[in-house]
Amino acid sequence: MKRYFIKTWGCQMNDHDSEKISGVLSSMGYAPSAALSDADVILLNTCSVREKSFQKAFAFLGRLKKMKEENPSLIIGFCGCVAQQEGSRIFERAPHVNFIMGPRSLGSIEKLIDQSSSSSICLDPLWKDDFSMIRFESFVRKTFPKAYITIMEGCNRGCSYCIVPQTRGREACRPFQEIIREAIFLSESGFLEIELLGQNVNGYRFEDKTFVDLLRGLLKIHSLKRIRFTTSHPSHLSLEIMREMKENDRMCNHVHLPVQSGSDRILKLMNRGYTARDYIEKVFWLKENIKDFTLSTDIIVGFPGEDDSDFKDTISLIEKIEFQNIYSFAYSPRPGTPAAKLNDNVPHSVKLERLHSLQNLQTSIQEQANREWIGRDVQVLYDGKSKKDNNMLSGRTKNNKIVNFYCREPLKDRIVTVKIKDSSVHCLIGELILS
Ligand code: 5AD
Ligand code: SF4
Repeated sequence: MKRYFIKTWGCQMNDHDSEKISGVLSSMGYAPSAALSDADVILLNTCSVREKSFQKAFAFLGRLKKMKEENPSLIIGFCGCVAQQEGSRIFERAPHVNFIMGPRSLGSIEKLIDQSSSSSICLDPLWKDDFSMIRFESFVRKTFPKAYITIMEGCNRGCSYCIVPQTRGREACRPFQEIIREAIFLSESGFLEIELLGQNVNGYRFEDKTFVDLLRGLLKIHSLKRIRFTTSHPSHLSLEIMREMKENDRMCNHVHLPVQSGSDRILKLMNRGYTARDYIEKVFWLKENIKDFTLSTDIIVGFPGEDDSDFKDTISLIEKIEFQNIYSFAYSPRPGTPAAKLNDNVPHSVKLERLHSLQNLQTSIQEQANREWIGRDVQVLYDGKSKKDNNMLSGRTKNNKIVNFYCREPLKDRIVTVKIKDSSVHCLIGELILS
């Protein structure tokens, strides 16, 4: 039997694209390979959001050169956002690549692998928009009992630092009924939680249906116990959506809401379309109206022109909001973006210093916030063994806290009650309460 290996970098969209590609490969008769060296097909599903992720993809590709020399029938596909960004330049840089494929052309994968087996022609489908050609029934899902559902591709927002509009293109929403059909299929297959995916999910629109209509349609599928979505844009997270979250306890009481900066001047240069005050007001509505509501966010430090006082504004926003967790990044200019024309004038050492102090502050906020959960009983949807301790199971609360817990018997239910006994920066630790 032939084998495949997929290396994935980047966001949940990329993780889920790899699940879709795995589905096609399985239906072609390929089995997954645990080791790179046993694979007949190697696919790199790449991310180009920052220069570092871009470099990682090429470093990995470099390691495959020797493998291809020793085994010329090995098929190497270079996929994802870097493939879209670089196009056929990749063949000049790495002639050992059989084909490239952009994220909007996943439906071409079968043809690409078939043609790569019989010829050495370089193929480069980009912007085919054939993503709906892969049947959702065939996806190889890796996150049971939670499943991803793509509701839209691309982004029309135009944040000045962001390469995504170039790599994933303009927004294209999936038909409403197709999303509902996928959710019903998942619920009938035993999945309990779905996470709706898109670069700007709250902007979903298909014919006369909005994001709130979609949530209402999905909430009618009662065996789905939890509904999440990512990523939200602060300007699109409307009061109507927030009320829907408040009124339905199967809507998760957590949102990932990238703020990027606490300085209005920098937010303007980033073309984010809101002020720090707009953001804070929205967040306080959520915290005041929804019990145990938590937020995570993304922050970029060292954007061109960011001075000490702008950074202070970011720090004070973090202190006010107390995020559950923060993904923080040093600004990295991306080719072809509007911000790449600005002078990247914050020295690298200052970017690192700011990252460091932001992360130190966040660590102490998280430690304290998690400690406050000791003694409480929480509902956990468990998804496997704890990565750190094999004797423990691991799962998440509805508000997205990681809970590791001891349990000696095999569990019947997937959603269990756990008493929290201890905590750390990144997780809560507890014991199962038998019902
Ligand atoms: N430099 C640094 N971080 C970036 N991000 C996006 N583009 C850049 C860039 N050019 C971050 C943002 C985004 C997250 C996915 O990556 O914070 O929300
Ligand atoms: Fe990376 Fe953005 Fe592409 Fe996701 S959409 S893989 S974060 S570049």
